Amino acid sequence: MTLENRTLVTAMVTRLSGADGFVNNEIRERYVRFAMGEPGIIIVEAMGVHDYKSGQLLRISNDEFIPGLRDLANKVHDTSPTKIAPQIIHFLKIAKSGWRQTIYDLTKDDIKLIIKQYAEGAHRARTAGFDGVELHMAHAYTLSSFLSMKNNRKDEYGGTLENRMRLMTEVIQACRSQVGNDFPIGVRFDGEECIRDGYGLMDSREIALRIAKLGADWISISAGGKFEDAIKKEGQPIYPYTGYSGDRCMPPATYQDGYNLYLGAGIRDFLLAKGYKTPIVVTGKIRTPEHAEQILSEGKGDIIGFARTVLADPDWPKKARSGNDDKIIKCISINVCKALDENFKKVKCYFWPKNVSTVPFVENTTAPKWPVEGAQLKAEQRTGVVRLTWNKSIDTDKIYAYDIFRSVDGGPFEFLWATRADMKPMYDDGTASGGSTYTYYTQALDMAGNRTEKSNSVAILVPLPVQSET
Ligand SMILES: Cc1cc2nc3c(=O)[nH]c(=O)nc-3n(C[C@H](O)[C@H](O)[C@H](O)COP(=O)(O)O)c2cc1C
Repeated sequence: MTLENRTLVTAMVTRLSGADGFVNNEIRERYVRFAMGEPGIIIVEAMGVHDYKSGQLLRISNDEFIPGLRDLANKVHDTSPTKIAPQIIHFLKIAKSGWRQTIYDLTKDDIKLIIKQYAEGAHRARTAGFDGVELHMAHAYTLSSFLSMKNNRKDEYGGTLENRMRLMTEVIQACRSQVGNDFPIGVRFDGEECIRDGYGLMDSREIALRIAKLGADWISISAGGKFEDAIKKEGQPIYPYTGYSGDRCMPPATYQDGYNLYLGAGIRDFLLAKGYKTPIVVTGKIRTPEHAEQILSEGKGDIIGFARTVLADPDWPKKARSGNDDKIIKCISINVCKALDENFKKVKCYFWPKNVSTVPFVENTTAPKWPVEGAQLKAEQRTGVVRLTWNKSIDTDKIYAYDIFRSVDGGPFEFLWATRADMKPMYDDGTASGGSTYTYYTQALDMAGNRTEKSNSVAILVPLPVQSET
């Protein structure tokens, strides 16, 4: 399989399917929208290989799901050169009461069934006309729980590294024998569990080496997302992205860009040293084409994976490719999408208009403007924050957001935040600290990413706190 470019939309549950697990119009619309942005490949949200109902999640557990999946693959292929592969998943039962099945409840027959279900799922992916299949072995789910350092099963499926890798190995082998050598199989797993006594890079390098030796066609590196540190909410099934490991999986605004890069980079170096060139997908707050390009040129990954980045702007790959970086609508990692997923609500971006289930494509090249009196951006010192206010901008269509850029002590301007245009034009910068001069400007953008001129810039010296009298 050859990709048009080195971008990959990582699997992202949409909660758009019904509890029946079938592809519907809203699902098709979501993936066609991603395809319009022309990423190299889209990994479709995790779909169950097991036969029990599992909420609003797609399924591939039975032949009756094939026609809908085939239609989805066809619609994406009709849209652009983007490839499409489903992520297939097995997870254990979970109840609102807090009870959850664990790997210790599984008999050898249950394990055999899981292997069979993965292999059949992979085969259905091929039958449905997808370009490949990704096996989900990351986060809180069955295969990942076997790989986990916490797996203390007393049989040949637990304890030592070899035993923990056994189910993974058997699943990959079974999938390969079902789909043949000419159908790409990718594997996604955690480069680090990000929980106390969980595994880190030392083990994940070995796991990746095994995956490479088994002939996987790509390895996608995620992080965390475990049950062990998840926070239980009364009356709700436990959601494995609520603790620290959840933050590592979907790094929030307080984490720096590329937070998890050292995992993919470490694994890639290790495999290359052993003579394996399996492409490594790196993910986690990769938000700008400049950063993506730097990762590739520095050899920290082979393929740029992103989820929330393209939820915020499905046209990211196309804009990057055509040199329209400045039209990209940036993700601010505020994790509204994650909260929607947690609450079984349709997953959308915080910036999208309220009445849509997928952001529409807008063909519009007219840039919005500031009013005649200008943006009049002002900065004032408040207790612990710098408050920015400005005038609303005007557009032929509608203003979508305001991007705020900041320079510290005369350094380069960097993107700081974006505010929604339907909110008061105001932002409190709580990250400015005393003793530095901060300079800001803002730009309004419309839904196509066209921008106003830069506003006036304002500089403010944040004083060091005065010593209080004792
Ligand atoms: C709403 C939501 C649903 C997700 N669903 C999946 C999933 O089904 N499978 C998976 O491997 N990762 C899933 N992820 C994790 C993303 O694929 C990705 O690894 C993570 O969000 C970090 O990348 P980003 O910073 O580009 O968003 C999900 C993330 C979000 C926000």
